[in-house]
Amino acid sequence: MTQPKSENIVWHETTVSKTERENISGHRGCTVWLTGLSGSGKSTLANLLEKALWERGARAYVLDGDNVRHGLNKDLGFSPEDREENIRRIGEVAALFTEAGIINVTAFISPYKGDRDKVREIMADGDFVEVYVKCDLDECEKRDPKGLYKKARAGEIPEFTGISAPYEEPDKAELIIDTTSQSEEDSLQALLSYLEEKGYLAA
Ligand code: ADX
Repeated sequence: MTQPKSENIVWHETTVSKTERENISGHRGCTVWLTGLSGSGKSTLANLLEKALWERGARAYVLDGDNVRHGLNKDLGFSPEDREENIRRIGEVAALFTEAGIINVTAFISPYKGDRDKVREIMADGDFVEVYVKCDLDECEKRDPKGLYKKARAGEIPEFTGISAPYEEPDKAELIIDTTSQSEEDSLQALLSYLEEKGYLAA
């Protein structure tokens, strides 16, 4: 749905601009969108990045798949349609955080290219930073931090990404972080360096 259901809805401009919020914070508001297989390290990296940003005095906030599915999106499962709606809602929330001048770090598998592209489209140029957290399926399965790959292989979880549901790799990610062998610390540094180099964050 691109238009509101009701016609009697009027858009209000905000009185404090995004730029004014950014000037107070000393960094840009943006969404660092981590995408990748379950077990690739999205949540770990998101939380490391949030902590590192926070320690620099930056306003950062993590939105994580498992957590959001306990509240806002607890009515959604893992069919392609539900995943699309999951990412659509998260995209809207991420756009609000971004508008509020926060560095919003999201950790969702977000397996469909089209769904990620729609989130990119609702944000201003440069506000959406797509980061492919790349990790071989074999390695994710070896890590299996929640024991879900084992269950999926046993046929106990239908439509499991990488096993019985697709993952579409990004073809225009701003950054690729290969966690198959790279350490957590090096991955974090790569993220921070990108944000500094592109001027999201003061060096
Ligand atoms: S997404 O595909 O819609 O973006 P999301 O990131 O919200 O997924 O949730 C993924 C998390 O849900 C995984 O890390 C895993 O813990 C859990 N999960 C449960 N069932 C599935 C499934 N069928 N496929 C993938 N992840 C699942």
